[in-house]
Amino acid sequence: MTQAQLTPSTPATAAAMMTLKVKVLRFDPEKDKKAHWVTYEVEAQAADRVLDVINHVKWYMDPSLTFRRSCGHGICGSDAMLINGRNRLACKTLLRDVVKKSGDTITVEPIRGLKVEKDLLVDMEPFFDSYKAIMPYFINESPEPAAERIQSPELAERMAHSSNCILCACCTTSCPIFWVNGSYLGPASIVQAHRFIFDSRDEATQQRLNIMNQNTGVWRCRTAYNCTEACPRDIPITQLIEEVKRAVMYQQS
Ligand code: SF4
Ligand code: F3S
Ligand code: FES
Repeated sequence: MTQAQLTPSTPATAAAMMTLKVKVLRFDPEKDKKAHWVTYEVEAQAADRVLDVINHVKWYMDPSLTFRRSCGHGICGSDAMLINGRNRLACKTLLRDVVKKSGDTITVEPIRGLKVEKDLLVDMEPFFDSYKAIMPYFINESPEPAAERIQSPELAERMAHSSNCILCACCTTSCPIFWVNGSYLGPASIVQAHRFIFDSRDEATQQRLNIMNQNTGVWRCRTAYNCTEACPRDIPITQLIEEVKRAVMYQQS
């Protein structure tokens, strides 16, 4: 175990400092046959984020630790990981929400259901292949109006939740159906499909509903709700999936 201090101690911060054990599931394909836990001891404050802690481990304790992160502010969706057994964004997770007291341990693992490339870094290609499969772009072949394509606030509201998605994969990689069958398009792709299916200006609704009706689409969902609980944007994913299921049924009747 290695030890280091994340936030420099001053008289003002000393009382709030705590010692954490950070257990990271590590895997180096060039050296390891299987993943193993490595524990780092870090001094931090309750208001620090898990991303601060693992950045600190990488920058000052073990530069070989590998993970994705970019914006650091819950926008880019790149630092989804399993923290204390639950999918979260490391940059949006405060230590005080995952540990109670000094001496506690937090566990950090790669998200599940995607191939681990190294440590916390997973291959996101299958996730983005599913995203591409739902045609995640606006389709409207009619002549462009002189101004913008108008949409009422009421119609815009129908896609308010789904347009908040940042494609972090917290939902899809917490879904037990996806773990068992990776061909399931998964909740993130269905949320993206919802965004266009319920866009009154888009003209490819029927095509997307057909994709949703395939055996890789919405009918694989068994309303496990893991996805909704995992979403860092508080998108009511299971509800949106149900709305897409209803839209598929109505277009067939
Ligand atoms: Fe992430 Fe939520 Fe989008 Fe799923 S729906 S990819 S959990 S932001
Ligand atoms: Fe999976 Fe979410 Fe459905 S966890 S089973 S997609 S409600
Ligand atoms: Fe961009 Fe966390 S680093 S969402």
